[in-house]
Amino acid sequence: MKVVCIFSGRRNGKGISFARLALRACKEAGADETVLINLNDLNIKPCIDCKACVRRLSDPTFDGTCPLKDDMDWLDEQYLESDAMIYLSPMYENSAPGPYKIMCDRLGPSHDVTFQKEAYDNQLARGMKPKVDERFFRTRPVLYIGHGGSEWNYLSYPTIAIPSIPLGLQVVDYISIPWSNGALQDERADEIRKAGKHLVEMAKLPPEERSYIGDPGICPVCHSRVMYLSDQADGLTCALCGAIGTLVVEDGKVRASFTPEAMALSHVLEGGREQHMKDLKEIGRKNATVDYSREKELARELAEEFPCTKPVKGV
Ligand SMILES: Cc1cc2nc3c(=O)[nH]c(=O)nc-3n(C[C@H](O)[C@H](O)[C@H](O)COP(=O)(O)O)c2cc1C
Repeated sequence: MKVVCIFSGRRNGKGISFARLALRACKEAGADETVLINLNDLNIKPCIDCKACVRRLSDPTFDGTCPLKDDMDWLDEQYLESDAMIYLSPMYENSAPGPYKIMCDRLGPSHDVTFQKEAYDNQLARGMKPKVDERFFRTRPVLYIGHGGSEWNYLSYPTIAIPSIPLGLQVVDYISIPWSNGALQDERADEIRKAGKHLVEMAKLPPEERSYIGDPGICPVCHSRVMYLSDQADGLTCALCGAIGTLVVEDGKVRASFTPEAMALSHVLEGGREQHMKDLKEIGRKNATVDYSREKELARELAEEFPCTKPVKGV
């Protein structure tokens, strides 16, 4: 069994030791191979929204690929060879830092398992050799670890756990390590060891038998505590997975209530991703019938009036 840990952080920082401690626990629990990857050692370029990946998935005749030449293919291969994943990140300004976020951007929609499955089926139906790698379709368990130098970490989980959505990962634990000084020598080290062991135990089980042991959170599907509130009666939406619920006050305590139908539409589940795919197709069909010439004309006019300024190189 192979456990791959991807993290963003300093080469001699706190997180790298938390990652190593978790991997040691994985080895002790039966993992025969572990891989530790620091995103700061890689060259992962920001997504440029060229849509080549979307076209590649939606149009079986299109042979283009992502034009960015960097280490993303190598990183994908590490993921595809894994049986279980650990993603770990510190907090920079209350969320995962840039290199981690850039990796997350590069995972979607190109890596969306539901888009990939549909493309795979379409290609087979046309008698083509599928261009999609079948290894994406395995449901891997994942452990997320977020840490930081203080308690300012409210967006930790919703920013670190983004890979769950495109990759269809199954979260089995989340650990938060605020005020991380000394964590390796107090009870939090035991929590990390327990998490590594649990990850490997879960990887040995089929997806339907796996369990989650982290903070239950507010969202019953993805376990996030960060919710978006609107002023509608049922106006509570999980800020990570999009499950829709209702805010309930009972005996002076606030809790969230989610119907099974709403939970099934969470974006970390197949149903939610399918609905999202249908919505995109529907909008795409509508957009194809609209005349956008006035919008284009105004955009051209504005571009002439407000050109971008950039530094002059080589001065
Ligand atoms: C730009 C910057 C912003 C930071 N913002 C936060 C923050 O919002 N919350 C927090 O708990 N720690 C914050 N920190 C502290 C880091 O999370 C902490 O130093 C952490 O140990 C870095 O991870 P590493 O040791 O694995 O490299 C920040 C550090 C930097 C450099």
